[in-house]
Amino acid sequence: MASSDRTMVVTGGTSGLGYECARNLARDPRNRVVITGRDVNRTRELAATIGAHGLALDLSSRPSVGAFVTELVAADLPPLAGLVCNAGVQFTRRSLTVNGMEATFDTNHLGHLGLIVDLLAHFSAPARIILVSSGTHDPEQFTGMPHPLRATARELAYPPPSTESAQRDARRRYTTSKLANLQTAYHLACELAPREITVNAFDPGLMPGTGLARDASAVQRLGWKTIARALVVLPGVRTPRGSGADLAWLVAAPDREGITGQYLVGRTPVRSSVASYDEPAQQALYRDSVELLAELDAQADR
Ligand SMILES: NC(=O)c1ccc[n+]([C@@H]2O[C@H](COP(=O)([O-])OP(=O)(O)OC[C@H]3O[C@@H](n4cnc5c(N)ncnc54)[C@H](OP(=O)(O)O)[C@@H]3O)[C@@H](O)[C@H]2O)c1
Repeated sequence: MASSDRTMVVTGGTSGLGYECARNLARDPRNRVVITGRDVNRTRELAATIGAHGLALDLSSRPSVGAFVTELVAADLPPLAGLVCNAGVQFTRRSLTVNGMEATFDTNHLGHLGLIVDLLAHFSAPARIILVSSGTHDPEQFTGMPHPLRATARELAYPPPSTESAQRDARRRYTTSKLANLQTAYHLACELAPREITVNAFDPGLMPGTGLARDASAVQRLGWKTIARALVVLPGVRTPRGSGADLAWLVAAPDREGITGQYLVGRTPVRSSVASYDEPAQQALYRDSVELLAELDAQADR
């Protein structure tokens, strides 16, 4: 087998979209693919099925992110050329992470931002970062999901008690985190352009049957796995296999070289929500998130 000349990391590569993306990337002998998951043995086993390397990563734990970066850098791998920030959670009730923060914000947004910041010195330019967002971030898309909150990063990390039902509140935190993924992508695209690191965001469409509904009730999970799968004929409904191929294309295709700051549905660049283009809001989210990460790191050092 030809030796690989670049490393591609896919967070949440044990299931759904991430696994399919990694499977596509691993078919190309130029790529050494690293997938991540919270259970190291399970992640290694799944990685072996596609010829990838499996490492443990829990994005909701700042120490886990640090340990992952140390392990990745120490591993005998080719230069880091791609990072797919794919892992994501959607809860049905409020929960906190070991960092003491609201779990959806911490996992989907802050964990990935911390990972990117910690990996910055280790990318080998030209490199690519993709953040997986969702059409549910956009109030004009009529996805049936609650509109994202407009709040500071600190308010999102440490929210007051909700006045909504637990499920609606949790769903709103999901759409808010997906807006944060876009705001982060647009902000970092500008920041990292001089370093030849492109940053783009991706909407895989609705992919019924993935593990995203794992926290839902048994009835809801059954619907997600069975009835919803039949919807695949409808516009905007995709399979993890199809969207995984698109995501792999986005991080690896030569014709995407140098293109940054885009939001793509499948392979098509589209406009995201009006709120996502608010530059002061992007900057504030980034500044406050980095401050929250520094506070977590300071706590760990004490
Ligand atoms: N499914 C959809 O309809 C849909 C639509 C739009 C956008 N998306 C987005 O697509 C992405 C992938 O979702 P999916 O549908 O493929 O879901 P999935 O099958 O549940 O996959 C999620 C992945 O995230 C990992 N993960 C969960 N919690 C984690 C944590 N705390 N730290 C690190 N990794 C964690 C899981 O790995 P382990 O459990 O092994 O740790 C798993 O590999 C998400 O960002 C989601 O928001 C999905």
